[in-house]
Formats: sequence, structure tokens, C-alpha cells
Amino acid sequence: SEGIIKDEQRQRLLVVANRLPVSAIRRGENAWALELSAGGLVSALLGVKQFETTWIGWAGVNVQDDVGKESLSRALGEEGFVPVFLDEQTVDLYYNGYCNNVLWPLFHYIGLTQDDRLAATRGLEAQFNAYKRANSIFAQVVLSHYQKGDVVWCHDYHLMFLPRFLKEAKSEMKVGWFLHTPFPSSEIYRTLPQRSELLQAVLKADLIGFHTYDYARHFVSACTRILGLEGTPDGVEDQGKLTRVAAFPIGIDAERFVRALHTSTVRNHIQELSRRFSGRKVMLGVDRLDMIKGIPQKLLAFEKFLEDNPIWHDKVVMVQIAVPTRTDVHEYQKLSSQVHEIVGRINGRFGTLTTVPIHHLDRSLEFYELCALYAITDVLLVTSLRDGMNLVSYEYVACQDQKKGVLVLSEFAGAAQSLGAGAILINPWNIVEAACAIADALNMSETERQERHRHNFIHVTSHTAQLWADTFVSELNDTVVEAELRILR
Ligand code: G6P
Repeated sequence: SEGIIKDEQRQRLLVVANRLPVSAIRRGENAWALELSAGGLVSALLGVKQFETTWIGWAGVNVQDDVGKESLSRALGEEGFVPVFLDEQTVDLYYNGYCNNVLWPLFHYIGLTQDDRLAATRGLEAQFNAYKRANSIFAQVVLSHYQKGDVVWCHDYHLMFLPRFLKEAKSEMKVGWFLHTPFPSSEIYRTLPQRSELLQAVLKADLIGFHTYDYARHFVSACTRILGLEGTPDGVEDQGKLTRVAAFPIGIDAERFVRALHTSTVRNHIQELSRRFSGRKVMLGVDRLDMIKGIPQKLLAFEKFLEDNPIWHDKVVMVQIAVPTRTDVHEYQKLSSQVHEIVGRINGRFGTLTTVPIHHLDRSLEFYELCALYAITDVLLVTSLRDGMNLVSYEYVACQDQKKGVLVLSEFAGAAQSLGAGAILINPWNIVEAACAIADALNMSETERQERHRHNFIHVTSHTAQLWADTFVSELNDTVVEAELRILR
């Protein structure tokens, strides 16, 4: 009975994100295979277990028939997930188009060429309309699951209109919005044709959160410069109504990784990998195959390192896990060929009959394989050109309490602000500097490695995903209470 009472007291939370933590693959009229989705948003939110959570999102599959919709809803419902169904054209315009070909590159300071941008302008209006349409479909699903008192937590750049649609339907709803990407300088953001509508829509939330203080500051500047609103230390004020804006750095479920390392499956796999790579230092990259991750830059830095350090040729191996993502978007297809070409060139140049310097995998790993790989790795390379936070760096640190390996981390990842003191920070555009960082990391003394690791391990195990969600949700509750008091006064 104690369990029941506790359950009743748990805060009900509706998490709304474009993607569900699992993506569905159809295996028959009523049969579905569910695969874990990739990315930091999913991995962090899956660690949040303290609320009674319903997760609303797209299952990554086009389902038109009622039988299919019903059977998928049932399969997902067992896990606490509610699907949002989007037709193929909406997905193409909203997800491939506006989200991943417009907002994503812009928020990450990725400059499309003038020609690409001009070409993109043509379809932009249709994409933006589809974006709004998709957001209103999400809103309908949220409203049909909403109960009084629920906290509704909207996530990421896909859903900037959601706070507006939800508040228009139910003004008393507690609505938070969190951005998992950087928010760019207002000088970049203001080139977006739909800049005002998006800001106005998202400002309808009660609380807006970012990973870092800088992103929050950029957002407030965009609101003051573009909308002429007043920025205060607490957020943005519009005719007496305050939208609270603050930084809430995300984390991981560190315990899950630390625990996994003690299981026999992971331990056996660690032994196997150690045998496989014995006599060589292991460098690792784990990324979605995305233009923001700087994978070509990472490979060029490794190539430069091999050129400058022949002594290391048969003593080091680089493993790059590049999980395919957004494969219908042209830029991602281009990147894939580019990466394969560079890997081929480096392996051709520096490989021997029996070994190659780079093991490149175009797929994700099972959780136990990933933990084992993190655990045996000497140097993790994170070379993001921009990255909201980058939780791969956190996962690596969580798995390194034995080995105390080195994290080489881009200064353009949000994580540079939290793990900067323990990592070697680099500008990934500076190939020479990055190549030197690789050499420094491989040559670092044990004492220095221990000291750097200790700093990061304390951070990763204390600033967890659970703490992140607790802080955001309690701040959202407080913000709503304060707003009600202000009205009474
Ligand atoms: C990033 C985004 C997430 C997204 C993930 C995977 O982490 O912030 O919102 O879910 O990438 O990308 P995808 O397009 O496959 O959902």
C-alpha cells in the first residue's frame, strides 16, 4: 500500500518531443518491432523515472490505416508512450524540411551556401505551414491526455509552436519548453524569415530552459531586439507577463552506466575487446552522422597526427561509431559520402596487410557493447562544430573510473562548460591543434589523467538527468504559483 500512496503522490508529467524513445518498424498488419531511438534527448529523458510520465511523440513511421494505428498505439501504450501520427508529406515538409534543413543548421551556425539557401527559400512557406500543422497535431494529442494539474514539458526545436497552441486551448496549463540545441546569437537567428512568430509562440510557455547560460542570453537578446520586449534577469516580460528563462544543464543516468560495468556481459565484452586491441591505444568517436559533429574534421586531425607521429602508426587505433540519422535529407547524404571517402583514404595511406588505423561503423551499438567500448578507450574525441551539450562525453566519463582515460572535447559543445577543467579543449577547425591534442592525450601521465578524470567524474555523477528534470519541473511549478500570486496582488 505504501507503493500505491507514493504513486498517487507522484507528479504527473506529459513529456512531448518530436521523437518517441522508440521508433517503430512494421513487421505485419498488427506486428511491430520497436527500436531504441538515438540522440541525447532520448537518452537523458529515459533516465528520468521519478514522475508518472506519459511520453507523447512521433514513432518515426508512416501509418495510415486504422488497424495499424490502433495496434501501434497499443504496443506503445504498454510502455507509457503515446504516438502522434503524421502523414508522409507533413513529415517531409515539417521534419526533413523546416526542422532539419532550416532550424537545425541555423541553430548550429552551419552556413548553407548562398545557392543552397536561395534554393531552400522557395519551399520555405510550405515547410513552415507544415511545421505549424504538425505542432497543432501534437497539441491535439496532448490535450486529449491532459488532466488538471499535469505538468506539460515540451522539447526541442521541432515544437516551438506547441506552447502557444496549448495555452490558447487551456490557459491554466503548466507549460515548459526546453531546447536541446544551442540557441544561436541573435545576429544569426534574425536572418530567419519566421523569426518573430516562432519567438512569440514559444514565449507563451511559463518556463523556457536551455543547456547553458549563453544560449539563454542569446534567446533573451533575440526577444529584445526582434520583438522589442523587455529582458530582465528572470526572463522576458511582455505587458506585465513574465516568461521565465533560465539555464538547466542536462546530464545522464550515470548510475545505469556504472552498474552496467559490473555485469558479467559487459565484463566479458571488455575482456574480448581488450584482447582484440591489445598492444594498441584505443581512440574513440561516438556520434550520430550529423554535420554538427565535425566528423570530417576529427578524421583530418587523426590523419595529421599519423603524418606527424610515425612512431604511433601501429600503436594506435581509432574506432568511429557513426549512427545514420535523417537519411532523407540531402546534407546528411553528402556528409556520409564525404566521411567514407576520408576514412578510405586514411586507411589506404596508413593501413598494412593486417591492420587499419580506423574502424568505421555505420550503425549503433547495443548498450552493453557501448559500455565496454567506453571502458577500454584511452582517448575519446568529441569534435562537434556546435553541440547543445553532448552527452557522449558524459557517458565516457561515467565508464572510465578504472582506466581514467582522456577526454578531448570541442570548445563548441555545451559540455565544454561543465567538463572543460578535466578535458583537453580544442577548436575542431584547427586541425594542427587537434592533432597535437591527440598526441598530448596519448602521452599524458597517469597522475594528470587521474586528476582530470576525478574532476569530471564528480560532475557527471552529481549533475544527472534526474537532477536536471527535478530542477526544471520544480522551477516550473514555482513559476506558475508566483504568476498566480502576482495576478492576485
Ligand atoms: C538531437 C535533437 C533531438 C533528436 C536527436 C535525434 O539530439 O536535439 O531532438 O531527437 O538529435 O535526431 P532525430 O532527427 O533522429 O530525432
